[in-house]
Amino acid sequence: MGDSNVPVLEARGISKSFPGVRALNDVHLEIYPGEILGLVGENGAGKSTLMKIMTGAYTKDSGEIKIEGQTVNIDSTAKGRELGISIIYQELSVLPTLTVTENMFLGNLITKKRGVVDWSEMSRRTKKALEEMGLDINPDMLVRDLNIAQCQMIEICRAAIINKAKVLIMDEPTSSLVNREIEYMFEIMAQLKEKKIAIIYISHKLEELFRITDRMEVFKDGENSATLITKDVDKDDVVKAMVGRELQNYYPPHEGVRGKEVLRVENLSQGKTVRNVSFTAYGGEILGFAGLIGAGRSETMMSVFGAMPGVTGDIYLEGKKKNFKNPGDAIAAGIAYAPEDRKHQGLVQIFSVNTNTSLANLTGIYNKSKLLDLKKERKISEEYRELLNIKTPDVDKIVGELSGGNQQKVIVGKWLFTDAKVVIFDEPSKGIDVGAKAEIYKLMRKIAGEGKAVIMISSELPEVIGVSDRVIVMHDGEIKGEYSYDEVSEQIIMQTAIGGRGNGK
Ligand SMILES: Nc1ncnc2c1ncn2[C@@H]1O[C@H](COP(=O)(O)OP(=O)(O)OP(=O)(O)O)[C@@H](O)[C@H]1O
Ligand SMILES: [Mg+2]
Repeated sequence: MGDSNVPVLEARGISKSFPGVRALNDVHLEIYPGEILGLVGENGAGKSTLMKIMTGAYTKDSGEIKIEGQTVNIDSTAKGRELGISIIYQELSVLPTLTVTENMFLGNLITKKRGVVDWSEMSRRTKKALEEMGLDINPDMLVRDLNIAQCQMIEICRAAIINKAKVLIMDEPTSSLVNREIEYMFEIMAQLKEKKIAIIYISHKLEELFRITDRMEVFKDGENSATLITKDVDKDDVVKAMVGRELQNYYPPHEGVRGKEVLRVENLSQGKTVRNVSFTAYGGEILGFAGLIGAGRSETMMSVFGAMPGVTGDIYLEGKKKNFKNPGDAIAAGIAYAPEDRKHQGLVQIFSVNTNTSLANLTGIYNKSKLLDLKKERKISEEYRELLNIKTPDVDKIVGELSGGNQQKVIVGKWLFTDAKVVIFDEPSKGIDVGAKAEIYKLMRKIAGEGKAVIMISSELPEVIGVSDRVIVMHDGEIKGEYSYDEVSEQIIMQTAIGGRGNGK
């Protein structure tokens, strides 16, 4: 084990540019054995880029990286792993059709003499590694039979124990986990800390950062902005270092003018995922849907949107009964749905920011002769770029090259720019920085104010409470409770969401 006065990993003077973007400008970062370091900053601040340089996925333009005081040259991800740096991304990298053991040793098989693969040795080591981390998982199980949290534990176990990582990087690891699973992951992280593994933890969730980090390094516009000792600071200090100013009126006020009925859903069912769901959404109102992951909220909205098979029940739009056979029908009738899985469902990765913004509302950029008005398109995408602070050199940039959070902002912009009557947002702030979140809430409030019905699915309790005028709580495919903003609380939502008694509305 290294001397804890010497950083296990140190990056100095790192710079990196992409065409038109200076992603990192002379940044430094140091982390000590057994430390949990939070890395925070707005979308596009350069967090993931630095991590990719340190793991060998990107090459730096300049600067130096030292491991335990020695300068190293990390020119490939294999080299990075060999030197003890492992990364866990938000999207899992385990292969579902292989067993736990196979996944553990993927690309790194143990062989006996004459190159014969030594499965019994690998199985033995897998079992031992799982035990060491207190994981009750059978090494022979296929990974597709595990849940997301277990898959993530497999990845962590592989990185920490099998690959003997000295530094474990976690880039927004909790965005697909439910609360209980996040708690479990924190316990595992505490164990790794005991083993003196250093962890770099990237997240936009300030509550989590305050719970588990020792220090936070804040990036702003590709530069170091502050180094903070977690126990000595509060949220405002972090936000200020990230955004450069204090955020006021984070949640816009509840204006509470309920307009006319826009969407009414009666006895909607879809297999076992949606059971007899009835609700009404009104113009002028933001209607929140809370619940645990798997409660059937997305399935409910996708059923309304014509995106699920075998749906029964009735849907009324402005009092008229509708039967959407597919999402195209729903969009044409005036329903917009910004999905949670934006990477696969929401964006055309190879199209520009400009094109993606207008994609769901081409009629919105028609000129008088119903031809696409490209100047108008540009004007609108520039408008959203500014409003949401989308970090891109220009709106012609391909969406796939934007940072994770900035891609999400493009999607949110795309759905905000529709003339839909009902706009449904599924986890709108996932991966989005605090400043942009506040802007998105304001825009949601604005479109509600135009008489549209806004529906928001959110697993973030402070968000669903802060933003919604009314909160519906689902559990196991059913609506279990409905609360107005002045009666709802985190406790009420949690009790209802776990299937405890709701008010049964
Ligand atoms: N492969 C690439 N090609 C072009 N530009 C890139 C590439 N990767 C990153 N960038 C740019 O570098 C900048 C920093 O991006 P990075 O992904 O490091 O941000 P981040 O801090 O991780 O943001 P987020 O919180 O949104 O994940 C952004 O402007 C981004 O568009
Ligand atoms: Mg990132």
